[in-house]
Amino acid sequence: MTGSLLEVANVARRFGELRAVDGVSLSVPPGKIVGLIGPNGAGKSTLFNLIAGSLKPDQGEIRFEGKRIDGQSPDRIFRAGLARTFQIPRPFPQMTVLENVMLAPIDQRGERFWNNWIRPGSVQAQERRARERAMEVLGFTGLAAKSADLAGQLSGGQQKLLELARILMIEPRLILLDEPAAGVNPALLDTLIEKIIALNQRGMTFLIIEHNMDMVMNLCRPIVVLAQGKVIFEGEADGVRADPRVLDAYLGDVAA
Ligand SMILES: Nc1ncnc2c1ncn2[C@@H]1O[C@H](COP(=O)(O)OP(=O)(O)OP(=O)(O)O)[C@@H](O)[C@H]1O
Ligand SMILES: [Mg+2]
Repeated sequence: MTGSLLEVANVARRFGELRAVDGVSLSVPPGKIVGLIGPNGAGKSTLFNLIAGSLKPDQGEIRFEGKRIDGQSPDRIFRAGLARTFQIPRPFPQMTVLENVMLAPIDQRGERFWNNWIRPGSVQAQERRARERAMEVLGFTGLAAKSADLAGQLSGGQQKLLELARILMIEPRLILLDEPAAGVNPALLDTLIEKIIALNQRGMTFLIIEHNMDMVMNLCRPIVVLAQGKVIFEGEADGVRADPRVLDAYLGDVAA
């Protein structure tokens, strides 16, 4: 057991002939906001899918708080305290913002038939707590005034905040954000960054995929660079821009 919150060791995943993630090792120490950058198609989102359980690795091991999580279901990993957001937000558009947040898979005994039948009072109490918690996280993310709106009517940036609100239904110890800044207007982006910092100060650790370099440089340390499925750089912000392998990876991407 190392001091890492998340430990990814030699993880690989192919799609047919394509080595989307090709022997990646990285670690996320507790308390950090780690940046994960790299050109389009580098394998960043695939790596998130492997960590969060929506894809299974072909090889390698993933540990969260010292325990193996590779191959476990997304739901189990989420309940263990490792939460993620998607590159493209996936709200239920015809449900309200509040309902979307309340759908987060916290321990809802109400979903279990036997409990429903035997202990209706307990189910009601759980629902009340879920609603209170949902209003709390909507307040924190600045979406409280939108709680009765249909999720499909939110702007792209507000949908990103809704994704954040959903995962805050639990108190995750590690949060994976996939391009939180994409499609978010500058004012809302400032809010989002403030929220990330506030949550980090409350003890939550982050691993953030982002193409917005200002945000990465200001917020993330250390920074890990992925290209063609491999880690090509790991270090502090100052080193990234000057690193010839990183420049190559990005210029290759522009030229392609
Ligand atoms: N389910 C899948 N089936 C087949 N190929 C896939 C699948 N998911 C991803 N890929 C391919 O794997 C490679 C890595 O994709 P991935 O989405 O992880 O990249 P990324 O680094 O997140 O890129 P971007 O910055 O554009 O979001 C790409 O070539 C992509 O087309
Ligand atoms: Mg991606």
